[in-house]
Amino acid sequence: MIAEQLYPAELAKFIASSPTAFHAAASARDLLSKNGFTQLDEQAPWQELPTGKYFILRNDSSLIAFIWQDQANRPRYLEMIGAHTDSPCLKVKPKPVLKNWNCLQLGVEIYGGALLRPWFDRELSLAGRVLWHETGSTELHSSLVDFQRPIAIIPNLAIHLNSEANKMQEVNRQTDMVPLLALTEEEEPDFLSILVKQLQSQESQESQGALPQQIKITDHELFFYDAAPPALLGLDEQLLTGARLDNLVSCFAALQALLVAANGTAQGTAQNCMIILNDHEEVGSTSLAGADGSFLRDILERLLPDPGERQAMLRRSLLISADNAHALHPNFFERHEPQHQPLMNKGPVIKMNANQRYATNAATAARFRLLCEQAKVPVQEFVVRNDMGCGSTIGPLTAAKIGVDTVDVGVPSLAMHSIRETVACKDCWYLYEVLRTFFCAAE
Ligand code: CO
Repeated sequence: MIAEQLYPAELAKFIASSPTAFHAAASARDLLSKNGFTQLDEQAPWQELPTGKYFILRNDSSLIAFIWQDQANRPRYLEMIGAHTDSPCLKVKPKPVLKNWNCLQLGVEIYGGALLRPWFDRELSLAGRVLWHETGSTELHSSLVDFQRPIAIIPNLAIHLNSEANKMQEVNRQTDMVPLLALTEEEEPDFLSILVKQLQSQESQESQGALPQQIKITDHELFFYDAAPPALLGLDEQLLTGARLDNLVSCFAALQALLVAANGTAQGTAQNCMIILNDHEEVGSTSLAGADGSFLRDILERLLPDPGERQAMLRRSLLISADNAHALHPNFFERHEPQHQPLMNKGPVIKMNANQRYATNAATAARFRLLCEQAKVPVQEFVVRNDMGCGSTIGPLTAAKIGVDTVDVGVPSLAMHSIRETVACKDCWYLYEVLRTFFCAAE
């Protein structure tokens, strides 16, 4: 169990080691493995699981982990926490290399609803997944790659060349957002061989057994990210600023709550707890690994094959869907509904929406409110102004998909979907406290 004073630094470390959804899932896997969780393989048949701690990865980017009681103690209910591993960013195109004059640039697609302006003039690094095979073989391997240092920048245009720059100006998603990687005299720079080199140097550092001498990368899913790690900030270091706080703040809190609950397993006091960390939330969740896909339903069907039994258990269960909320911005307070202005440092936010963009209803809000009281954590509410659009999250999709009562909550944050977002350290701790209480409190 992490102490409150150490929590922000541990959270920052988790975020820094998770530059992409693939890396977030790997960070979660490492943490769970270290704490005695057993990895299950979706490609193999499962026997009836004995009481224990388990996790499953899908697409290397989504993860479900749980504490399970055996048949004799067949669960009456399942406490669930959902969050997402992905964040808006720039994804390298399949054929990315652009040689413009002597500039080597990489074409990118825009992943999710990114706030684009803050990506200019940043030190950017690159990470993701590559598929490769040994020359002469057709056996494919998948490896994570992370340059871990600034290797690119998207420079602004000087104000002398654009006197309108400080007025609201549209960013052209195709032509303005092209990172610069190097100055080169090469006619046709070979990006794949740059990747191979990075992979080989990385493997030797990690001493995970050397790669074969001759490998060929066939495909990649690579994302640019802010090379600056998250930082504690403010006169009293009350704030945490960094990339991907939406939604790694929630992933980390869910993981830590599960680890504490897992200690209860050793003492025979654990409940049936599950965390679901989905990829692809930022692009609508309809995918192999997303919340609007089959992942969670497939796992539940394996755990409880009898449909009636499974449905009855789900109808007794609760899902806390944790995803960041909008804190009141002191410079733009008028963008908030006057009666619903979540403040930083004042605890997790229950998100509600009459049009079901959030899954919260009075019954689930009440349960969360009581949990907060039990955990001695303050709690706040959010609804969007009627003259503005409302975001959504994994809560409504999961609730609809598996029929589980759901509450949407989150840590209040500033600059959501920017390359750097800001939250209060205290709120991250509060979220963890209430999730821990959820998993550990006796019914
Ligand atoms: Co989010």
